[in-house]
Amino acid sequence: MPIASDERTIAVLNGPNLNLLGTRQPEIYGSETLADIEAMCRKRLEGTEFSLTFEQHNGEGELVAAAQGARRAAAVLINAAGYTHTSVALLDALLMAEGPVIEVHLSNPHARESFRHRSVIASACKGSIAGFGGLSYSLALDAALALVDGPTISGEGKENGERPR
Ligand code: DQA
Repeated sequence: MPIASDERTIAVLNGPNLNLLGTRQPEIYGSETLADIEAMCRKRLEGTEFSLTFEQHNGEGELVAAAQGARRAAAVLINAAGYTHTSVALLDALLMAEGPVIEVHLSNPHARESFRHRSVIASACKGSIAGFGGLSYSLALDAALALVDGPTISGEGKENGERPR
């Protein structure tokens, strides 16, 4: 069941097979579990004004529903896993997000098979952080906090009362 997120929430969405992190191809994805990554994300937001929602869905429809539920969040971090490379439906859902969307990957898809080089969701995203294992999530949270809290990047956003995208 997707969790509805509001403007004081940073939503972290995870796609298929990420529930098996820790045992899934550890030589590529590392030994941290998704629970470890969630705990690290919660710790990173301690002392900030933001709360965290953290979800994982194996089904494309469930992940689309989760992206819809997160559309009012201050920021959305998404590791869409395999759907990164295939899902127009997920792109369409992410295009409704009111805050910035940050694409996250544990591995560096550009250093892997060619079918992973294309991200279908990239055009809905402010940017992408990939290749740093669990640290990718922490770096993406830093970016999200800077975007929603701090000075704007390349002059976009807050000075017109707009939320950054
Ligand atoms: C991934 C990269 C994708 O290509 C792959 O399908 C995944 C995980 C990553 O975090 O490195 O499932 O998103």
